[in-house]
Amino acid sequence: MDRPLPNRVVRVPAGRPGAACVYPASALCDTERAPPALTGAGRVWFNGAALFLSTGGPVHVARRPMIAGNWKMNKGTAREASELAGAVAGLAADFTADVDVVVCPPYPALHATAEALQGSAVALGAQDCYWKSAGAYTGQVSPEMLVDSGVTYVVLGHSERRGRFGVPEPDFTEGVLKHFGETDHTVNLKATAAIAAGLKPIICVGETLAEREADQTDGIVAAQVEGALDGISAGSMASVVFAYEPVWAIGTGRTCSPDEADRVCGVIRKAIEDQYNDDIAGSVRILYGGSMKPDNAADLLVQPHIDGGLIGGASLKPADFAGIFGAAAAAQAAGAQAGAAVE
Ligand code: 13P
Repeated sequence: MDRPLPNRVVRVPAGRPGAACVYPASALCDTERAPPALTGAGRVWFNGAALFLSTGGPVHVARRPMIAGNWKMNKGTAREASELAGAVAGLAADFTADVDVVVCPPYPALHATAEALQGSAVALGAQDCYWKSAGAYTGQVSPEMLVDSGVTYVVLGHSERRGRFGVPEPDFTEGVLKHFGETDHTVNLKATAAIAAGLKPIICVGETLAEREADQTDGIVAAQVEGALDGISAGSMASVVFAYEPVWAIGTGRTCSPDEADRVCGVIRKAIEDQYNDDIAGSVRILYGGSMKPDNAADLLVQPHIDGGLIGGASLKPADFAGIFGAAAAAQAAGAQAGAAVE
């Protein structure tokens, strides 16, 4: 597993952790079988989220890009799910060495999707979980059940579950929204239980349009991060992924500008640093979600704090989804060149 690395050191530009990357992930190691600890100079350590290189000098952190498709309440029959997952697996084969590709179907389609993904490196995700293992909780699904269904990732705290719909529909009355009921506290309970069961949570945060207009974006997002991570140990952070999803950009065709999305992802990283330290903040992957499409993905994915995307509508069309993970691979390669340039 250990491959010889040249004794090179990459310095990450100040304030831009992980912005530069000297080697594409695929050049380094088989990520699933990497050793659990860094043991010497010139060796590689994969902690589930990031690659750490030690060359005897400063350690450089390169975050592996991730493109996750949140199918929401779509493609949930076994036939639809296997067709879509099979198409994604075929298109992703050339990219999964450099990009983590994930699909998150509705619960009833998990098994069919897992079957369709067999033999491919595309990972399976779920869209939610409960925080109890078993019991009288009608309609709920535990993290352990998801693991048993072949699930690796679980989306938590999506704004559509927090009851913060960007585009309210006539039957989403205040009472109904209240009962969708996700809060920072329930997201924290779910993240804690998911990690304990061996799942990797993708924790969604983001402000509504009213909050953005009232200049509350940074405070709201930082509080959501802090609330979600309450009591989660530093050692568990290797399996945590965040997704910045401005509520007003979800399903609306309105994308956050790349600079602004990157700035808010930086706010998320700073909130993680405040709670842990800069190494952990530099290694956690932060995705952007909200009307990401093949034609705007490249501009978002080259941003230094944006490590991938959480994709809704475009993940339902294999060619569009492939356009996005192709853009992530290209952004990763461009990062590698930038890394070599700052050496
Ligand atoms: P859209 O890509 O459809 O805007 O959805 C984003 C999202 O909510 C992903 O979780």
